[in-house]
Amino acid sequence: MSSSDLLQQIRTGGEIPRHVAIIMDGNGRWAKQRSRPRTFGHRAGMRAVREVVEAAADAGVEVLTLYAFSQENWGRPPAEVSALMALLELYVRREREDLRGKGVEVHMIGEVGRLAPRTRRAMESLVDHTAGGQRLRLNLAISYGSRTEIVNAARRLAERVLDGTLVPGEIDEELFGQQLYTASDPDPDLLIRTSGEMRISNFMLWQLAYSEIHVTPVLWPDFTREHLFGAIRDFQRRERRFGRVLAS
Ligand code: IPE
Ligand code: IPE
Ligand code: MG
Repeated sequence: MSSSDLLQQIRTGGEIPRHVAIIMDGNGRWAKQRSRPRTFGHRAGMRAVREVVEAAADAGVEVLTLYAFSQENWGRPPAEVSALMALLELYVRREREDLRGKGVEVHMIGEVGRLAPRTRRAMESLVDHTAGGQRLRLNLAISYGSRTEIVNAARRLAERVLDGTLVPGEIDEELFGQQLYTASDPDPDLLIRTSGEMRISNFMLWQLAYSEIHVTPVLWPDFTREHLFGAIRDFQRRERRFGRVLAS
């Protein structure tokens, strides 16, 4: 089926997920299959990012969160980490005008303080340059770790209790969620992980409480707009119960 037929199908086939989150995995294996260095796979993964951002906007997704670099990924060989950071900077240079033109508003989620100043400035310039985009919000998770995000939230609330502006009884799920990077986003409706791995890898542990999970064996550099639309089609066939019993 062509991608426009697929798009038509998901537009009429049910609800479009408001928030899609993707664990973009498999770049290294993709490169290995071609006897090339891992960084070759990361570069190829950039094409997929471009295509999927556009496809998500076309489908009418409101928020797309892409897991690009985890806190744990800092533990990879320094040459791979530097190559990934250089690619991020390249992504910003190449895509900034296009993202803005398409109405994509970029947000960064993660520990930006750990980035090299140059990478950080590049990312911040992308955020500034695309501010106000109305079509799609793109959260780039970089140096992101969900446990740290949750611990930081707890710490901020503890500080407010200490300075007397909050009493512990006022802490509820809503207030807690407001301390997270995703404070202004709905929770992901759909989580996609490529490359067949069946794990969460420290990604959005709080926010994924009731997300539908779609794992595909496709390696990230091979992931296309058709794959995204297929995942949305799969989502539309799910019965979301949120722990309840549906009236029959
Ligand atoms: C995902 O691909 C990209 C990042 C984690 C930065 P990997 O680099 O994890 O690729 P595999 O899992 O080794 O194939
Ligand atoms: C998760 O992939 C992080 C990103 C996609 C950025 P990893 O390849 O780092 O995760 P593990 O090691 O397979 O859990
Ligand atoms: Mg991986």
